[in-house]
Amino acid sequence: MTNPPERKKITTLTLRQKKARGEPITMLTAYDYATALAVDRAGIDSILVGDSLGMVVLGYANTLPVTMQDMLHHCRAVARGAQYALLIGDMPFMSYQASADEAVRNAGRFLQEGGMDAVKLEGGRERAEAVRGIVGAGIPVQGHLGLTPQSVHQLGGFRTQGKTAAAARRLIEDAEILQEAGCFSLVLEAIPARLARLVSERLEIPTVGIGAGVGCDGQVLVTHDLLGLFDRFTPRFVKKYADLHAVMAEAFGAYRAEVEARSFPAEAHSVEMPEEDWSALQQLLSSGKAA
Ligand code: KIV
Repeated sequence: MTNPPERKKITTLTLRQKKARGEPITMLTAYDYATALAVDRAGIDSILVGDSLGMVVLGYANTLPVTMQDMLHHCRAVARGAQYALLIGDMPFMSYQASADEAVRNAGRFLQEGGMDAVKLEGGRERAEAVRGIVGAGIPVQGHLGLTPQSVHQLGGFRTQGKTAAAARRLIEDAEILQEAGCFSLVLEAIPARLARLVSERLEIPTVGIGAGVGCDGQVLVTHDLLGLFDRFTPRFVKKYADLHAVMAEAFGAYRAEVEARSFPAEAHSVEMPEEDWSALQQLLSSGKAA
């Protein structure tokens, strides 16, 4: 019997090599230890600790209230659970926009305090200086173009981007600028599939799509969407691979019914003290010697 091939830690180089070989890259989000462990065991290439946690874990209407503290807290939990996947920490709103210096310092915290291997940030040419600074500090950066949720108010809502010829050309230019600035990969979110394929073909660095069709070099989904855990809304591009919200609701209902019927805990879930100690306790209590 031959041993299975030794599993190696995924790096930014691995992703580049997968693109060169035409092998699809897999990426999912995780925000906690248990999920990171499961995603890592499934052999997913990369885990993004996305600021989407603001919506799917913390219940905010959008990602804007998410702080560095929030991100680092969840990054540390994920880093404890995942051994092999490339870990990418999502830089939250206003952690990289004010100045390139601040961007470098905050990116550094993701590696030093959060246990991440790389960071992701949103935006095109206007972020090139920040990307150069962070990459210059030795920190790999993943860019994010198309629907960039931190600009939800500027974009007028969570809507598909790059649908006109002018918008598509600007997006292609932004992608090339980010590659030039040193990004190791780009997330392409909610853009036409033909445009995403074109961008992926023009770039040397791998693209990872979400709502951007099959022509990207890889795919990412928000794990809570994939699992059917986030019930508020489901973007059109999400495929639900499970309905864990329904599974949870059923389990909670069954628990409640059993507690109310006193059928849980059963004997199998209880511990008992030895008979002689029980008798001794009875005697102590009846002779008034209990402490
Ligand atoms: O925050 C996030 O989860 C993301 C993905 C949607 C790519 O940015």
